[in-house]
Amino acid sequence: MTKVKAANGKLGILTPGMGAVASTFMAGVIAVNKGISKPIGSVTQMGNIRLGKRTENRNPLIKDFVPLAKLTDIVFGGWDIFEDNMYESALNAKVLEQSLLDQIRPELEAIKPMTAVFDRSFVKRLDGPNVKKAATKMELAEAVMEDMRRFKEENGCDRLVMVWCGSTEIYMEESDVHSSVEKLEAGLRNNDPNIPPSMIYAYAAVKMGVPYANGAPNLSCDVEAMVELSKQTRTPIFGKDFKTGQTLMKTIVAPGLKVRALGIHGWFSTNILGNRDGEVLDDPDNFKSKEVSKLGVLEEILQPEQNPDLYGDLYHKVRINYYPPHGDNKEGWDNIDIFGWLGYKMQIKIDFLCRDSILAAPIVLDLALFLDLAKRADFYGIQEWLSFYLKSPQAAKGLQPMHDIFLQNQKLLNTLRHLMDEELITHLGLDYYY
Ligand SMILES: NC(=O)c1ccc[n+]([C@@H]2O[C@H](COP(=O)([O-])OP(=O)(O)OC[C@H]3O[C@@H](n4cnc5c(N)ncnc54)[C@H](O)[C@@H]3O)[C@@H](O)[C@H]2O)c1
Repeated sequence: MTKVKAANGKLGILTPGMGAVASTFMAGVIAVNKGISKPIGSVTQMGNIRLGKRTENRNPLIKDFVPLAKLTDIVFGGWDIFEDNMYESALNAKVLEQSLLDQIRPELEAIKPMTAVFDRSFVKRLDGPNVKKAATKMELAEAVMEDMRRFKEENGCDRLVMVWCGSTEIYMEESDVHSSVEKLEAGLRNNDPNIPPSMIYAYAAVKMGVPYANGAPNLSCDVEAMVELSKQTRTPIFGKDFKTGQTLMKTIVAPGLKVRALGIHGWFSTNILGNRDGEVLDDPDNFKSKEVSKLGVLEEILQPEQNPDLYGDLYHKVRINYYPPHGDNKEGWDNIDIFGWLGYKMQIKIDFLCRDSILAAPIVLDLALFLDLAKRADFYGIQEWLSFYLKSPQAAKGLQPMHDIFLQNQKLLNTLRHLMDEELITHLGLDYYY
């Protein structure tokens, strides 16, 4: 007997930020619904899950196993500081080909951004005309809640989900105003400077019981107050920062080196990218948010304190360089200095010619569908089982986030099995190196 409510009616997926990632995601789902393409890279749509013993040969698609919203039941909306509709935004982003966009033009043109909550002090490189004005941050949050109510009503949605696809804000640390719901609400009323726009959207969503995921490294829902609010309103939340290019590779390669007890002296990672995201990240304060999000990964996977001979001297460096000619086609280089038997040195070089938004779009879809599922299953608070999708996954207080993609995958699949009363699969001994 499943404990999950059925996915009846329409699901509204709302994205604060309607640039390259959001337009690629929306265009992709529309193209799939029109039979033009396939949702490659989406685990919910294309991934299988093994059930029972290997001899039972049960391997359904995940979407046939858990009651997810259907792609044809999705309605799109969002907010941006620019007025471009999703066709114009997709054209600007230059990710998808004109021939594809031509086939879905009317559907994309119909998706227009609502006026954004924006404050330039958090994203200095951007400015746009489509911005809300209000006396306090609380009034801005209320305006976002009103937008959501109106959107739900006008589009006949049964449920909503919000996924932050906006720019990376400047680096901030958790402070007193983020420590409880009471303080955060007082801060919203008093225009506390430590509350960025992404947190205002997150507050509005979670206050209304709308699941919220954060695709950028901003603090957003990753503070005590938001976790507390998510429990009060029984709302699933999860952040932060889509795990797409280089960090995806890192969390695939590092666990492999670790299980073979190979040592690592150094890991130098550098990226060049030329999209608007790259331009925002060219500012040192915004880059700092990304750097912190990217750096935590290796330490957690390799656990140098437990393996000082292998990883005690690891030098890990991450750079991002804005290089307009590459557009959204990011190039991520990794130079990995490793050592083996008797300390003999070796090197691994990875040159990942990836496409940022092509990798991120299916993550937006999966996070939205799984958070909607979580809500219907009455899961609330931090959804650690979705760590698979994020560079810097939130963890319960006092716990280290889990970065190893294989363990993350196990946790995701076992959560789905648990939800559907299927036997958990532990592959006895998989966790032996932890
Ligand atoms: N593409 C990837 O592989 C990837 C991976 C991890 C994280 N991310 C993050 O996802 C986010 C989106 O990336 P992108 O490539 O689409 O960037 P983008 O610059 O193309 O789009 C971001 C959009 O957000 C808008 N925006 C900024 N602040 C806003 C606000 N307060 N309210 C509403 N809109 C706002 C901008 O106007 C812009 O249109 C970035 O933060 C990026 O760091 C992307």
